[in-house]
Parts: sequence; C-alpha cells; structure tokens
Amino acid sequence: MTAKVLITGAASGIGLAVARRIVARGMEAILWDISRDALEAARAELGDSAEVRQVDVSDAQAVNGAATSLEGATHLVNNAGILGHRMDWHDLDPAEVARLLAINVTGFMKVAACFMAARSPHPAGAIVNMASIAGDNGGAPGFASYGASKGAIMALTRAMARDFAPEVRVNALAPGIIDTPIQGAVMADAAARARAAEGIPMQRMGSPDEVAEAAEWLLFDASYTTGEIIRIAGGRR
Ligand code: NAI
Repeated sequence: MTAKVLITGAASGIGLAVARRIVARGMEAILWDISRDALEAARAELGDSAEVRQVDVSDAQAVNGAATSLEGATHLVNNAGILGHRMDWHDLDPAEVARLLAINVTGFMKVAACFMAARSPHPAGAIVNMASIAGDNGGAPGFASYGASKGAIMALTRAMARDFAPEVRVNALAPGIIDTPIQGAVMADAAARARAAEGIPMQRMGSPDEVAEAAEWLLFDASYTTGEIIRIAGGRR
C-alpha cells in the first residue's frame, strides 16, 4: 500500500531532507511550512509528488484548516521547530518562552491530533517526532526553553506511542549538531563551527540527510519499535 507522508517544517534542513527521501521512494509528500518562498523552492525541486501548504503550526485554526486536505496521509514527520532567541535567566521573557513552546510543543501536539483524526489507515502507519539531544542535556547556555521544549517532545513521544498503539508507531529522533540554517544563531562563523566539532566524537556536524536516513528507517522499515528516542549525534551527549 502506498504511503503519503505529512512533514512539518519541510521547506528547509532536516524536513526537506526527509521530503527528498520520500519522493525518491516514489511516495507522495505533503510539505507544511511557515515560509512560503522556501515552500515554492521545495515544490520546484521535488515536482508533482510534493504538495505544499503554508501553515504556522502554532496557529491552531490554521492547522485545522490545513488538516482538511490531509486525506490519504498515512505517516507524519512532526519536525517544525525553532531555536528561539538567546535568553539569560536575568532577562527571562515569558512571552518569548510561550512563543517557542507554542511552536515546538503545542504545535507538535496539535498537528499529531489532526493527523490522527484525518489519517488513512496503513498497515505500517508511523509518526516520527523531531526531538534533540538538548532534551536530555538541557541545551546550549542561553537556550533553556529550547531544551525544555525538546524534553517535552521526548515525553510526548512516549505518551503518543502508548495512546496511538497498535495502529501507529511513534518514535523520536534526537539529533545533535546538524548543519542546517537553525544553527545560524549559534554557529555564525568557521571558528564557532570548529569549536562545536571538537566536542563531537565523530569530529564533525551531521548533515540533514543523516537524520533523514534514520527517519526513513523508523517510518518504513521498523515494525516493532515504538516509544523510542534515537540519537543521531555523532556520539555527542
Ligand atoms: P531549519 O530552520 O532548517 O528548518 C526548520 C523549518 O521549520 C523551517 O523551514 C521553518 O520555516 C519551519 N518553521 C519554523 N517555524 C514554523 C512554524 N511556526 N510553522 C511551520 N513551520 C515552521 O532547521 P532544522 O535544523 O531542519 O530543524 C528541524 C527540526 O530539527 C527542529 O524541530 C529542530 O529543533 C530539530 N533539531 C535540529 C538540530 C540541528 O542541529 N539542526 C538538532 C536537534 C534538533
């Protein structure tokens, strides 16, 4: 049975790498992203197998509206996320924390709920949530809200795996430092990138496709794996 995969945050980085793999397998991909321009570029690259839609995952009404076109979707890669601004404890800005959680946590929950309501049954239905090793280690200094949001994704993955079984398997990936635009804020120059690489046993950042490779396995090849969090971090903790 053919699969149709909804990917959020699909116009860049890891989400786009997943979309490329879906299309290369001859499957259909539904790409949701907040960036219209990036979606247009992705559509131009991926062709007719990709359906794109501008959606802000933190806007529950927008997600409800977009979910009306989810018919036939069998798998979900819940991936849209932001790092947020650097914030020290003495400058704590609750509005900024709320904005980040609305995208990285509530948005994930809302998309998963809509996907579950609209999805088409598939013998190997599955969800992959994009967590981060920051969910375990607390995140980089100044990015505690991001770490907290990814810790929440780990807990949500276990809750979803329980609640959506046996029809849908739910797992998370916890990437380390992956070379995508999200790293721009923390790794603007070559020196910062070299410093980051020093702390990674594999001595380099990962590529988006190295995360997509694991997502593809969890989506289509795994069959008894659910509720798990798999690090793709070059050995970094
Ligand atoms: P990216 O910045 O290249 O891609 C994120 C995508 O999400 C962008 O296309 C952006 O437009 C979209 N997006 C942002 N806010 C959105 C919203 N409200 N609604 C819909 N789409 C929205 O970053 P990357 O690295 O590909 O990130 C993907 C996921 O992987 C994120 O959840 C991130 O936290 C996670 N991750 C990334 C790591 C890295 O080192 N790059 C490490 C660990 C986790």
